[in-house]
Amino acid sequence: MTTEAGSLKRVAGSIVVGSGIVDMKMGEVVLVGREELIGEVVKLTEDSFTAQVYESTSGIGPGEKILGTGKRLVAELGPGLLNKVFDGVARDLELLFKERGSFIRRGVKVTKLRRDVKWDFKPSLLRGAMIREGDVIGTVEETPMLLHRILVPPGIKTGTLKKIEEGSFAVDEVVAVVSDKDYEHKISLMHEWPVKVPRPFKEDGRLTLDQPLITGQRVIDTFYPIAKGGSAAIPGGFGTGKTIMLQQIAKWSDADVVVYIGCGERGNEICDVLTEFPKLKDPRKGRPLMERTVLVTNTSNMPVAAREASIYMGATMAEYYRDQGYNVALMADSTSRWAEALREISGRLEELPVEQGYPAYLPDRIAEFYERAGRMVVLGAPERSGSVTIIGAVSPPGGDFNEPVTIATLRYAGVFWALDPELAFSRHFPAVNWLKSYSLYTGPLLSTFTEAWGSYSEYEKTFKWWQDLSTQYIEYRSKALELLNSAASIESIARVIGESALPDDQQLILLTAEILKEGFLRQSAFDAVDAYCEPLRQVILLKMIIDFHTGAMKLVNKKVPIDLIRRLPQIPLIMRAKENPGRIEYVSHLMEETLDALEKIAENYGFTIKDEQ
Ligand SMILES: Nc1ncnc2c1ncn2[C@@H]1O[C@H](COP(=O)(O)OP(=O)(O)OP(=O)(O)O)[C@@H](O)[C@H]1O
Ligand SMILES: [Mg+2]
Repeated sequence: MTTEAGSLKRVAGSIVVGSGIVDMKMGEVVLVGREELIGEVVKLTEDSFTAQVYESTSGIGPGEKILGTGKRLVAELGPGLLNKVFDGVARDLELLFKERGSFIRRGVKVTKLRRDVKWDFKPSLLRGAMIREGDVIGTVEETPMLLHRILVPPGIKTGTLKKIEEGSFAVDEVVAVVSDKDYEHKISLMHEWPVKVPRPFKEDGRLTLDQPLITGQRVIDTFYPIAKGGSAAIPGGFGTGKTIMLQQIAKWSDADVVVYIGCGERGNEICDVLTEFPKLKDPRKGRPLMERTVLVTNTSNMPVAAREASIYMGATMAEYYRDQGYNVALMADSTSRWAEALREISGRLEELPVEQGYPAYLPDRIAEFYERAGRMVVLGAPERSGSVTIIGAVSPPGGDFNEPVTIATLRYAGVFWALDPELAFSRHFPAVNWLKSYSLYTGPLLSTFTEAWGSYSEYEKTFKWWQDLSTQYIEYRSKALELLNSAASIESIARVIGESALPDDQQLILLTAEILKEGFLRQSAFDAVDAYCEPLRQVILLKMIIDFHTGAMKLVNKKVPIDLIRRLPQIPLIMRAKENPGRIEYVSHLMEETLDALEKIAENYGFTIKDEQ
């Protein structure tokens, strides 16, 4: 609701200065000019205010009106977010497009959630029930993939449910009434929430981050895992694979809901998402992925200020699904574009810049964003927990990680997947550098990861190797990392003296590292089989490679020439096993065949591998 009118004094890019509104507040949404462009107040002085405008201000000039709204920038939260594409201020792009054609005009008023769709609401409480904020009062099937829980909005402390109705409703129609001595609240399927304020959760409700977000990407799940509720940064220079990596996680991870923010990236990247996502199916439920996805897009040709809005919009939507008790993955591509927008606006506000022109509050803003991640007990009954996992791409100029945005991000994110231009150049994707990356979630996660395999108990009967696998796996992972580390230092020696001059055990380490890189770390996003690698397959692929190494090392220790091992016909098969649709059965068979082949060589030399320690 518009409260007061003032007038524009100055326009500078996405920043406008106005006066004539007495009780303007920081963060208040203003409507600028005849077209009522959406803006937000970012600075107040005694007799004027400055606002950043989320739409192009070209053609707008001094003297035009500016309206206060008395409201902060809010997100509309309710059914109808999934399977949709929104712009930075959460306007439905499909509706904008319908209304205005492909050139989206500014100032177009489109409500955020559609009002013309009816949802079947099924109450889960009866009239007379005592309720409080966060309680689930009923459900709506938002998509076949997600049962949307309708919550008592935060802020309604307690009350009696005076009325609750089953039936078909638009998001803004009243479905329930809560009353207390002093007030009466109407509850509809949607409510608003100011995007810059993190949504509340239960006091002391933060939970330990000990559940993995399974992404089906080997270098992530096995080596540098991310927890549900954790945060990760993907810094990488131009073309190193940031977008593909985010998209892989958006497609395959076991999150219930994905919120994907395209922030300031090229339009064609967003276009890829828009054309590709609707065709994809969830690997677990077989339904279209869009049914669990919200896209918030704000491309490089849209006004910079809207980048900021899109980040907060996305975070708020993610928290809203968390509050319903879901695991949400929130991705932002790229947070650097957001930081650049902060820099540009700060410059126009004539604030004192610190490093590389960024404002002094940059690290705080980045911290605030990543702090919205977490796994928590949420408000209300029935008791439930949910999580928001945040994954942000960072695009440092020139790929140099020693710059303010990357440095600040690494301080707050729990996982660092360092993308390496050399790997990308040699087409090793995902180009995650296995020596420089880290994850703070490996300890507790690996044990839960192993527990998760327990559910594949059918394999215990089928495969003899299954028995001790879960306990061995942590060892396998450390062994693999140790091998890759040793290989890196051996390689630097080999560069000087030549590989053939190395002792056989070192040559074997190089050979196994090669197999690990090719057969395990490399994973094509475009391979029909390998784009997603389920945890169990990750386990046995790694086991096969490490067991090969252990067996081969016993041969080398007994002076069997390395060339005999190198020539084993199974080696190229091991490297390709990841792409074999025969999957687990195939790998299991290949593994046994390889060990038999090694054993046969040993026999020729008069010993057996099994007897060797
Ligand atoms: N997992 C992968 N499998 C196969 N190819 C990949 C993979 N990841 C990246 N690529 C290749 O690298 C190219 C660049 O990847 P991507 O667009 O994700 O890079 P980016 O870091 O987002 O680039 P920019 O800096 O331009 O945003 C892709 O078009 C693709 O050919
Ligand atoms: Mg990209």
